[in-house]
Amino acid sequence: MTGRFTVTAALPYSNGRLHVGHMAGCYLPADTFVRYLRSRGEEVAFICGSDDYGVPVSLTARKEGRTPREVADFYRAEQKRDFDGLGIEFDIYSGTSATELHTERSQQIFLSLLENGFLEKRSCEQLYDPEAQMFLPDRYVEGICPFCDTGGARGDQCEACGKLLEPRLLIRPLSVITGAEPEMRRTVHWHFKLSEFKDRLREWIESHDEWRPMVRNFSLGLLEQDLPARAITRDLQWGVPVPLPDDPDAEGKVLYVWFDAPIGYVSFTAQWCREQGGEAEDYTRWWKDPDSKIIHFIGEDNVVFHAVVWPAVLMGEGTFQLPDNIPANCFLNIQFPGKEEEKMSTSRGTAIWIKDYLERYQPDPLRYYLTMVAPERQRTAFNFEDLARRNNEELVAALGNFVHRNMTFADRYFDGRAPRRGDLSQQDKEQLDMIAGLPQKVGCLMEDYRFKDALHEVMAAARLSNKYFDHRQPWALRKVDMETCGSVINVCLNTVKTLAVVMAPFLPFAARKAAAMLRAGEDEMRWSAAAEPLPEGRELGEPEILFEKMELPEQQEG
Ligand code: MF3
Ligand code: ZN
Repeated sequence: MTGRFTVTAALPYSNGRLHVGHMAGCYLPADTFVRYLRSRGEEVAFICGSDDYGVPVSLTARKEGRTPREVADFYRAEQKRDFDGLGIEFDIYSGTSATELHTERSQQIFLSLLENGFLEKRSCEQLYDPEAQMFLPDRYVEGICPFCDTGGARGDQCEACGKLLEPRLLIRPLSVITGAEPEMRRTVHWHFKLSEFKDRLREWIESHDEWRPMVRNFSLGLLEQDLPARAITRDLQWGVPVPLPDDPDAEGKVLYVWFDAPIGYVSFTAQWCREQGGEAEDYTRWWKDPDSKIIHFIGEDNVVFHAVVWPAVLMGEGTFQLPDNIPANCFLNIQFPGKEEEKMSTSRGTAIWIKDYLERYQPDPLRYYLTMVAPERQRTAFNFEDLARRNNEELVAALGNFVHRNMTFADRYFDGRAPRRGDLSQQDKEQLDMIAGLPQKVGCLMEDYRFKDALHEVMAAARLSNKYFDHRQPWALRKVDMETCGSVINVCLNTVKTLAVVMAPFLPFAARKAAAMLRAGEDEMRWSAAAEPLPEGRELGEPEILFEKMELPEQQEG
């Protein structure tokens, strides 16, 4: 793996704060991957921002008595703080309503599709809320399910019996927004002819057998079904205007939010290029040059749009590269003490907010835990007790302890310097071999998007290193053979260095502290330098604790 990487993470809607489920879904794995690539010296653009348009933001604005733009600006800033606090470092965090470059790019792609013959104008009937004066998206209509007679069924699906619905099938439909009775109104929309891309999509997905099975199978499954043309315009005010000033049908219409949102990846890249002192047009280097690999990190609910619709849009536009991989995670459930695992839900208050977590605890333990329980293949559950326990037993007792016992040893008995490496025993050599092989082992797993397995390797190495320390007993050697004791501590300090490099993508805050203790510069912290020996006699920094013990909330109270 070498070259240039365009790495994106799904754009969160800017109508709410972020919780641990969001992080586990795509932001944390994306950041971990990017940190690894940077450590390898690759050229990376790490792009994200908020998804500002669409009905969710408009509805929040209506409820809070603010404009959609105010809502989007407010939550975008909140989200940025959450990301900063967790050490998720995008090159740019913009927003689809925050730059005119997004409007321009979205309109250009729409017009290219139109010119290339992939859009079709069609008239259709839709439910309209006369009070809110807007057409209603399917899930904003509620009524009685015609199949099971249950009330509260939504226009897209009945949750009680699971049947797929259409708004017009509902008995006594009502608008969720105002409670008014919706009426049918005729309107015109531009539809994207998705089915024309069926064969190319299938061929493309089949050529990527390295993708996660969930992503591959799900999208190939979709391609087995009918792919009706999809409306990519809406009768709304909040959105990117349909760029057809001479067509009266386009009046009062905007692009559908799922059409413009992924284009945000491209427009934010352009904005970033411009902020770097270049031209906005430089985005083509990241999106059109075959030497750039495009990687989309997403959650499971976004697979259809990223693996099928968006690539079809790119194919239809004709000048873009297709994504190289789409690592999607499943959902993270939550488990409260003594309760069954349940869905994390904002409305039912079963989510753990990043802001609340960071008020009490350090970011690294959460990064650690979310990677260790990452829903890479199936759904998993967040459990706070488990997080505290793993922090205490794994980060504190294994990794932190190894680093700390060696740093303090060198501080106390070797005058705060890295001792000389003399003759090595078989065990010393085995420890050095183990450490020398670690970057390669961890790196291979990272390149395979297996972050949980990669972190397991790091932790296994930390445990073996503690065993080595215990076995060599430097505290006893010190009294009889200072030379050999020095060699053992030398091997251990080199181990700390390698561990610091390979843990850095996962635990950036602790890795920075470890590097400072070793007085290791950026060059020494590169992946390729992970196992290069620390200069003998190197003056070390003050020993510091990498991880604090975590107390559970109820232990603190009681
Ligand atoms: N806002 C969407 C969600 O939270 C994700 C949009 S991803 C993008 O589900 F690619 F469309 F931007
Ligand atoms: Zn039903």
